[in-house]
Amino acid sequence: MSLRLGDIAPNFKASTTKGEIDFYEFLGDGWGILFSHPADYTPVCTTELGRTAQLKDEFAKRNVKVLAVSVDPLDKHQGWVKDINETQNTTVDFPIIADSDRTVANLYDMIHPNASETMTVRSLFIIGPDKKVKLIITYPASTGRNFNEVLRVVDSLQLTSNYSVSTPADWQEGQDVIVPNSIPTEDAEKRFPKGVKVVKPYLRYTPQPNK
Ligand code: BEZ
Repeated sequence: MSLRLGDIAPNFKASTTKGEIDFYEFLGDGWGILFSHPADYTPVCTTELGRTAQLKDEFAKRNVKVLAVSVDPLDKHQGWVKDINETQNTTVDFPIIADSDRTVANLYDMIHPNASETMTVRSLFIIGPDKKVKLIITYPASTGRNFNEVLRVVDSLQLTSNYSVSTPADWQEGQDVIVPNSIPTEDAEKRFPKGVKVVKPYLRYTPQPNK
């Protein structure tokens, strides 16, 4: 059975380019991103892991740990990391799991046999400090992910876990947010002292509360 939003992210132990890890210990009390790529020494994956490394400070600012996984072995990961660093002008210092026995791939349903019998698809899970799955996205091998979008979702998840608001389409940090329909306008005006703009009774905006 595949994982769904709100499920507990299963724990596991794994061999990585940074040594043996226990997933929950690795995450600690913070947020986590677990993402799979189909195979080492492939072009799209090279750019994806490079981009993730370039965004190191952005992930750290948000208290997010990242962990990559593929079914390739450790020695292959280690050689490939050198190429990623060279070609993408960066230093990969997050761990990459060598999941040759598919423990993690199976736990997180990362192999989709109609796409490939052997390789993981591009799965990505955002996991909250409560170890629950907050986001699942799945891309095909031919399409590299947009890691700015991943950061944008983290921003939304972190905001909406602290305040009773939602974020509209294409929302970016600092822009107005949505007052949920569970809060009557009268209460919303007290709760959001920066003001509530009523476009329709069911569509109300307020400035981002923590800005
Ligand atoms: C790539 O990363 O370019 C890739 C990996 C597996 C299959 C197809 C493309």
